[in-house]
Amino acid sequence: MTDPDLRARLFRFVDTFPALAGPADVVEHLRGEFAGAAAPWWLRAGLALGDVPGGRRVTTAVARRSIDRMARQFVIGTEPEEVAEAVGGMWASGSAATVDLLGEHTHSDAEAARYATRLAALVDALGAASNRWAPRPVLEHDDIGPVPRASVSVKVSALSPVLHPLTAGRGVEQAQTLLLPILERAAALGVSVWFDMERYEEKALTQALFRRLLERPELDMLHGGIVLQGYLRDAADDLEALARWATGRRIPPAVRLVKGAYWDTETVEAAARGWDPPVHLDKGATDAAFEELADALHSYHGTLRAAFATHNLRSLAAAVVDGRRRAVPDTGYELQLLYGMAEPVHVAVRQAGFRLRVYAPMGELIPGMAYLVRRLLENTANESFVRHRFAEGESLDKLLAPPMPAKAPGRGPETNGHRRPHPGDLAPYRPEPPAQWHLPAVIEEIAMAVEAEFGRAPRQVRASRGSAGLALSSVDPADPEVVVAHAAVCDEASVHAMVDAAAAASGAWRARPMAERAAVLLRAAAALRARRAELLALVVREVGKPWADADAEVCEAVDYCEYYARRALELDAGGAVQSPPGEDNLLRYRGRGVCAVIAPWNFPLAIPLGMTAAALVTGNTVVLKPAEQSPAVAGELVRILLESGLPEDVLQLAPGAGETGAALVDHPAVDVIAFTGSREVGLAIVERAGRRDDRRGSVVRVVAEMGGKNAVVVDDDADLDQVVPAVVASAFGFAGQKCSAASRLVLTDRIHDAALERVTEAVRALVVGPPRRPDTQVGPVIDAEAHARLTGALQRASSVGTVQLARHDLPEVGWFVGPTVVTDVDPTSWLATDELFGPVLAVFGVPDFAAGLRLADDSPYALTAGVFTRSAHHVRMAAEVLHAGNLYVNRAITGAVVGRQPFGGNRLSGVGSKAGGPDYLLQFCDPQVVSENTVRQGFAATVHHTPTR
Ligand code: FDA
Repeated sequence: MTDPDLRARLFRFVDTFPALAGPADVVEHLRGEFAGAAAPWWLRAGLALGDVPGGRRVTTAVARRSIDRMARQFVIGTEPEEVAEAVGGMWASGSAATVDLLGEHTHSDAEAARYATRLAALVDALGAASNRWAPRPVLEHDDIGPVPRASVSVKVSALSPVLHPLTAGRGVEQAQTLLLPILERAAALGVSVWFDMERYEEKALTQALFRRLLERPELDMLHGGIVLQGYLRDAADDLEALARWATGRRIPPAVRLVKGAYWDTETVEAAARGWDPPVHLDKGATDAAFEELADALHSYHGTLRAAFATHNLRSLAAAVVDGRRRAVPDTGYELQLLYGMAEPVHVAVRQAGFRLRVYAPMGELIPGMAYLVRRLLENTANESFVRHRFAEGESLDKLLAPPMPAKAPGRGPETNGHRRPHPGDLAPYRPEPPAQWHLPAVIEEIAMAVEAEFGRAPRQVRASRGSAGLALSSVDPADPEVVVAHAAVCDEASVHAMVDAAAAASGAWRARPMAERAAVLLRAAAALRARRAELLALVVREVGKPWADADAEVCEAVDYCEYYARRALELDAGGAVQSPPGEDNLLRYRGRGVCAVIAPWNFPLAIPLGMTAAALVTGNTVVLKPAEQSPAVAGELVRILLESGLPEDVLQLAPGAGETGAALVDHPAVDVIAFTGSREVGLAIVERAGRRDDRRGSVVRVVAEMGGKNAVVVDDDADLDQVVPAVVASAFGFAGQKCSAASRLVLTDRIHDAALERVTEAVRALVVGPPRRPDTQVGPVIDAEAHARLTGALQRASSVGTVQLARHDLPEVGWFVGPTVVTDVDPTSWLATDELFGPVLAVFGVPDFAAGLRLADDSPYALTAGVFTRSAHHVRMAAEVLHAGNLYVNRAITGAVVGRQPFGGNRLSGVGSKAGGPDYLLQFCDPQVVSENTVRQGFAATVHHTPTR
């Protein structure tokens, strides 16, 4: 445990273990995990046993016994009656308990209901059993009054699949409906109920649910408690608010002060997303905050009932001393400890006469894995009191020293706050942080912008040149009667006029220094940020994209500007070539000339902006033809780029339909075509651009991103808790209208039924509705044509597979198509091979992972792919077998981030280098090598005359 690498590998193995089938599986995973690691002798011996007859069985038995023992150390039992008996035993020896039913984060209504049923059975069993326990005054009274003997602890994320800030209304409602009868029962039986606190994202929802329930008159007599996490920087405010709310209540609500068990998750997530972490970043600060909060909690004695939950003797002692200083009797609060952790502290607390309540989890190993891994992490963390005291035997004097917060507030790994780079002094590229929906101010700002957008009169989107009439309308796909924009339809003549103007402007633009062009992109990024809410709202309205997806799109637009600006400056320094003595060689990159950008509607802001920004920054002029469904967004992005300092004619907008695009493609002055859209149109463009035309000044280069029929392969050992939300998000996010979306799900026989059932139930729980609402997870499809095509396809689906689920509970108005899951799909059928671009998931069964990979790769497309496996060997195999341009392992297959997952496919999914990656800009450039002889009269001068350096 002192070796962080070995520790990480062991945790990964332990996490996978319950999903493994037999000895061969166990040995293979051990080998995969520990190959190349400096494993200790006992582990090496265990692995070597895998090669001798019967050895695998021995290794597996040892692993199983160790993990079972570990689980038994932290988990009190699996069934309510067994647990009630064990808790009775604890009561007899002087400890109260609160029982936690293992399991968190459900993904369907059925899972939530199952959790609630088990919770109800637990309350009943504990309520009945506790009547038979002998009296223990210390455990069942404080100075305020009686304290229930039995208690349960609840994780509210287990009670609704939509307990998320954006779906808060529904999530809280659902959890409340399930909890209310259980809490009524608990109140009647005299069982107290604690609301555990989980991740920061769910904190406000948990608090809201707690209050709403306790305010119900029928729960007037319930002993309810909630957790306060000391590591949170806003914990003191929460405590104050709680105390204000609790004032005057008949039964004082209880507060369990803890430090917080999700420190790793909170800091990693904040760093990955570029958010300020909500937690203290040094252990001393958390410890000091715990002590301050303990004192503050005592100050509310009588209004709140306090509980202090920590294994840290210094923290416990501080709570006791503060209580005495404030004249709170020792029996006026309780001390709480975790089952199986720091046993000597349990004994000491009991012997010192305090009321001890032990938090005892119950349940099965698989749902309990997250809990177990948290405990393992905690017990072995560098900063852990338990490790210092009980594993390393550090002296009490040292451990009891007052906490020392670091002087300057620490910074999380890789967080950069909100610094904005300036041209000439550019900070390294960092993706734009996505919205923090859990902050009320964020939701309020977006809600206002969305309401303002939906109340707006139609926009007018004119062509940059010519007098084309506003003959095109874009509408709200959720309410097609409402026009979002009237747009021009450019005819051939106006397109040609634009390309001619772009060609004329090209030389001067190319001659500008790269830094000047990069600065335009950086100013555009700043403008996008400043108008973030407004642009998000427009995307929501014009293409029917749910809020979180629209937010990600605005971030991606910012990212393209920031990333390509930096990459252009790197290119400007020249490519890697050698210069021998006496010769100066420079590989430089120049814009090709005129670029035609032809963009899709599904990312109406980010994709056209990315293609346009790449062309502009490398010195090309651009004529942009947006999708006919989304001219308003295109109008805004062109305005932003122009206002960021583009000279006249360097960027022109040519709204229109297919003919407008065709006129653009055929114009002989076009040097590069950047296209994203369907395979048919993409291949037609490649063909047209390749036709011989002597008027052309160059061989046209086509950069085309086309479709996908993307598969996710789920292995025998996959973690279904990870699979279900990732597959559902990948398949049904933005109603399946992303080219990266998952449309095929390939399940190995061993997990087929369980995975299919959970995925289907999760799809049943998706919130389908108008994207104007924050809680919508699946909106409408883009237009009447898509609606008709998809509805027709779904009607035919039963001829090539079994329709497992077809949602029909759809809004009456709008182009809605119900999320659909079809199983046993014929792998040769259209449903298995054609890109449908809608909320339809085809499911296939395969005997094993290798067969799954073969099936997944058997497609003319190769855009994205996903695998869920915990075998290191299988991860390598997937990368070998699959041709997809983007392969995702154990995560969703949508949501590529610029600079992290450069995006683009192979085979018929695309031609050209990946967008948002280091090579993308090269496609818009002509490379040129300038070689200068620097020798003069036998003297090698080092003066450079070459154009840029
Ligand atoms: P110790 O003094 O060793 O503190 C460890 C804690 O310090 C970590 O858990 C973390 O909070 C913090 N920490 C570690 N490294 C840090 C760093 N670099 N910077 C800042 N802080 C750092 N937790 C929870 O989130 N929700 C809950 O509902 C509960 N419920 C609960 C009930 C009971 C009865 C107990 C005993 C504990 C909980 N916990 C919890 C767990 C609790 O939050 C905590 O994780 C453990 O008790 C470990 O903390 P100690 O104070 O015991 O040890």
